[in-house]
Amino acid sequence: MTTPQPHYNITLPTPHHHGIAIVGCGGIVNYAHLPAYRQHGLNIVGCYDLNHDSARATAHSHGIDTVYQSLDELMSDARVEIVDIAIPAWEQRAVATRLLHAGKHLLCQKPLAETLDDARAIVDAGQTAQRHVAVNQQMRWSAGIAASYDLIRRGYIGTPTDAQIQVSTSTPWHMWPWLRDSAHLDVMYHSIHYLDSIRHLFGNPSLITSRHTQYPGQLERAETKTVTILDYADNLHVVVMVNHHDDSQDVYATYRFLGTKGIIKGTIGLLYNYPHGRPDTLEYAAHGEPLTSIPLEGLWIPDAFIGPMASLMHAINTHQPPITSAADNIGTLQLVHGSYLSAHTGRSVCPADL
Ligand SMILES: NC(=O)c1ccc[n+]([C@@H]2O[C@H](COP(=O)([O-])OP(=O)(O)OC[C@H]3O[C@@H](n4cnc5c(N)ncnc54)[C@H](O)[C@@H]3O)[C@@H](O)[C@H]2O)c1
Repeated sequence: MTTPQPHYNITLPTPHHHGIAIVGCGGIVNYAHLPAYRQHGLNIVGCYDLNHDSARATAHSHGIDTVYQSLDELMSDARVEIVDIAIPAWEQRAVATRLLHAGKHLLCQKPLAETLDDARAIVDAGQTAQRHVAVNQQMRWSAGIAASYDLIRRGYIGTPTDAQIQVSTSTPWHMWPWLRDSAHLDVMYHSIHYLDSIRHLFGNPSLITSRHTQYPGQLERAETKTVTILDYADNLHVVVMVNHHDDSQDVYATYRFLGTKGIIKGTIGLLYNYPHGRPDTLEYAAHGEPLTSIPLEGLWIPDAFIGPMASLMHAINTHQPPITSAADNIGTLQLVHGSYLSAHTGRSVCPADL
């Protein structure tokens, strides 16, 4: 059998010269958003941060002409069509609502909000303002997930029966000091990417069951080791297992998607040396055939970060919702909150009820 060639390259729509302003000039904007946008020649017109030094340093590093002194100043800049927000989740509702009232389209960072109420308020504000709100769930565009999506969609594994994402690594939590005291950690801030990618690949599960725990003596307040099972109506079983405190030499970050006709398996390169990472790997076999390696190009950071922005621009051009719209993201946040509720109560939870 010939080796399948998955399609996973991200294409920008035409036109893609929309004026973009950045709100929040911290780590992720500097090492992921702006390198991706610069590589694709996007039109970054200005940036703003509560910490003006961060905004000035970011503008200097990335050749951005305008540093706004206030959100009002950014909102009144008619060149700005899209605002890319990368601030802590609990700040996002207030900022997003003001920007939508000012007529801007938004790319919000994940998590869209820490509560479903706040997330739904952002969805409503977008609908009222008739502006698009996309969420930066960029793992969907990472090479391994995007290539798997294409192969599954084209029938290479047949009917999906089992899926696993298993990560055991030593996470550099010091990069996000504000997360140390957070009441939610892995699922809200990390596994949310896996849950969103699983929804992208397989749709919404009917039940979620989670167990959360900690590492002895960990400095973080919340869960750093989690196991989550997703049950689907058609008997598909998904397991997401994550451990952020693996100090061994045997760390791994793997995905495995099994169906009635074939199997896809691979590694999530970013997790082997965050934030530099390495390319994802992918192997495929039809049942009865040996696994074949399919080389993948690109890194999750920064390359996948062009995906949500390209999708938002496509939405603006075509008046269709972006792939990771805020409305779609409610489904991902229902899994996040379903996971916490399940771990807290020791029961399975129907995410659609939340
Ligand atoms: N792969 C990913 O998708 C990914 C990775 C890392 C972080 N994130 C998310 O990106 C966001 C930012 O993370 P980070 O690591 O860059 O954090 P950071 O602390 O490095 O930067 C956040 C910046 O936002 C600024 N800020 C805070 N509130 C503000 C407000 N109301 N208005 C303007 N500026 C404000 C801060 O001054 C700071 O400069 C978080 O929501 C985080 O969850 C996503």
